[in-house]
Amino acid sequence: MANSQRKILVTSALPYANGPIHLGHMLEYIQTDIWSRFQKLRGHECHYICADDAHGTPIMLKAQQMGIAPEEMIAQVQKEHEKDFADFNIQFDNFHSTHSEENRELASEIYLKLRDAGYIKTKTISQLYDPEKSMFLPDRFVKGTCPKCKSEDQYGDNCDNCGATYSTTDLINPYSAVSGATPVMKDSEHFFFDLPAFSDMLKEWINSGSLQQEMANKLSEWFEQGLQQWDISRDSPYFGFEIPDAPGKFFYVWLDAPIGYMGSFKNLCNKRDDLNFDDFWSKDSTAEVYHFIGKDIVYFHSLFWPAMLEGAGLRKPTSVYAHGYVTVNGAKMSKSKGTFIKARTYLDNLDPEYLRYYYAAKLSSKIDDLDLNLEDFAQRVNSDLVGKLVNLASRTAGFISKRFDGKLANIADKSLSESFIAKQETIANLYETREFGKAMREIMALADVANAYVADAAPWQLIKDEAKQEEAHQVCSNALNLFRILVTYLKPVLPKLAADVEAFLQMELTWNNLDVDLAGHEIAKFKALMQRIEMKSIEAIIEASTENLQVTPIKAPKVEDVQTELEKEPLAAEISFDDFAKIDLRIALISKAEHIEKANKLLRLELDLGGETKQVFAGIKSAYAPEDLVGKHTVMVANLAPRKMKFGESEGMVLAAGPGGKDIWILEPHAGAKPGMRVM
Ligand code: 2FM
Ligand code: ZN
Repeated sequence: MANSQRKILVTSALPYANGPIHLGHMLEYIQTDIWSRFQKLRGHECHYICADDAHGTPIMLKAQQMGIAPEEMIAQVQKEHEKDFADFNIQFDNFHSTHSEENRELASEIYLKLRDAGYIKTKTISQLYDPEKSMFLPDRFVKGTCPKCKSEDQYGDNCDNCGATYSTTDLINPYSAVSGATPVMKDSEHFFFDLPAFSDMLKEWINSGSLQQEMANKLSEWFEQGLQQWDISRDSPYFGFEIPDAPGKFFYVWLDAPIGYMGSFKNLCNKRDDLNFDDFWSKDSTAEVYHFIGKDIVYFHSLFWPAMLEGAGLRKPTSVYAHGYVTVNGAKMSKSKGTFIKARTYLDNLDPEYLRYYYAAKLSSKIDDLDLNLEDFAQRVNSDLVGKLVNLASRTAGFISKRFDGKLANIADKSLSESFIAKQETIANLYETREFGKAMREIMALADVANAYVADAAPWQLIKDEAKQEEAHQVCSNALNLFRILVTYLKPVLPKLAADVEAFLQMELTWNNLDVDLAGHEIAKFKALMQRIEMKSIEAIIEASTENLQVTPIKAPKVEDVQTELEKEPLAAEISFDDFAKIDLRIALISKAEHIEKANKLLRLELDLGGETKQVFAGIKSAYAPEDLVGKHTVMVANLAPRKMKFGESEGMVLAAGPGGKDIWILEPHAGAKPGMRVM
């Protein structure tokens, strides 16, 4: 090994524990995993750490809505996340949770150090408060009319319609998205981290050359705008860690999230005798620490986080590497187009190695967005991995087994393999600098050379000629040796393929044994290594990811025809259980019901899901007076994508049955049902 052994700690951003992993997330985990596997392949000590980000208001409310404790919800989600990552061959050295004892201790310790050093200020601030739910409302849980363009139902502090940004308190007719109540202003004491005190240190750190240029530019802009005190406390009710000596006050989720990197590492150190936490985090640590993140969370990682570490007397990250967003077929991922693809949906249909390769082939060290063009994806994988790479082995391995006792020849002319090995530093350097796309191009250029060599030598012809057996043996052995070098280079990207090739070649592939001599080495029988991507698998993914926004209205038959109509009503097309399982049916309390001017069939309902209120327009006016509905419980489809209707946005459907007219009955659950409960 040319370089001496490095000690490296690598992290990916911690996913929130309230939703599934999708292909946008996967870019980062694949990028980090490739980098960390590369470091390990080169013989360095590298630990890849992650955890679920388990705190905050959205997680608290989601659990309430599900009718379970947040601890139960985050445990369930963590299990799913871990399975998704494992199935994508993401090799974490530890995956933990920010809701852990290690993290609680570290967050308290760091906070107390900051407080004792004078970096925590208190200030009373006035904020929107939901008097019904008795809770302060984060911006995203307040809705109202845009003060600029007057468009209704705008969230928080920016308008979807005209793009204006404003303070949540400027919204006209604000209401709580949690309960529907009109928020009031309420005072409360908050704790602030004194970020401006770290200005000089941060400026120096940012310009020290270890950040990406685009990131350093962005940070300089923020500096010009001036750094602000950062509000790190939240009032109860909040799902998080209570602040030491401040009952009823909790750390804001973003305070303990990055500390979660340390918490997870601590958890690993506790399990392993050979690892020492302080070797990596103390002020004088010589280890390297890298955070891979998305471009949306640069502020937290490049300002707050290094300042917190500095203030608490700890080391700062060696670098923070940001990447761009994933688009699919050139556009933002979309549920209606079926391009909002969950990791699990992908895994149900395709081999994870394909996506790992495609992302690698398109990644650079820059913050540019990356387009997953599904046709290009299939074509690229089929052409590079199946057509060029695997083909090298499938065209030559059979002859070795059948004609040469499975043993490789002593290759006389080593010039080709030497030229391949000569590329190792170039390729290593591209991996090191996160220029994975360039690395893939270098490797595929070598694959082209190897294929041209095999095509030229045509061992399938040689083998037919008794006099050319030795030549055929040479060509096939040489080709398999080139194949071995290529797969070693690709091992960080394609760990599963590499493992299969190791079994086939009966040897471990490491960067150190690139130039191993294989004369007389016995290989196993060749088995197919990779299949082509069929477009039908991609179509299946799109289909499974498409949320249908079109609801076909059921025509109401005349009452006297009910019997016959019911008999005639054909059953809808069969759906799979998975499709059925996507429907989130919930008990809802009808908290408000009203007539709509000029509407013949619709009533406007407000449905309380026990933590969230949804507006639904229901075609039940012919059967119900609004006052009959208020206070009743019913069943609603809670995850139907919102539909813009003439009278406003409908955020779900209530379930009702009956032929029509006066004979429509909303479903009414048993008295024990509580709003928000899931209907099975
Ligand atoms: O943006 C997010 O998804 C956050 N959960 C990332 C946290 S990264 C780290 F700071 F914990
Ligand atoms: Zn507006």
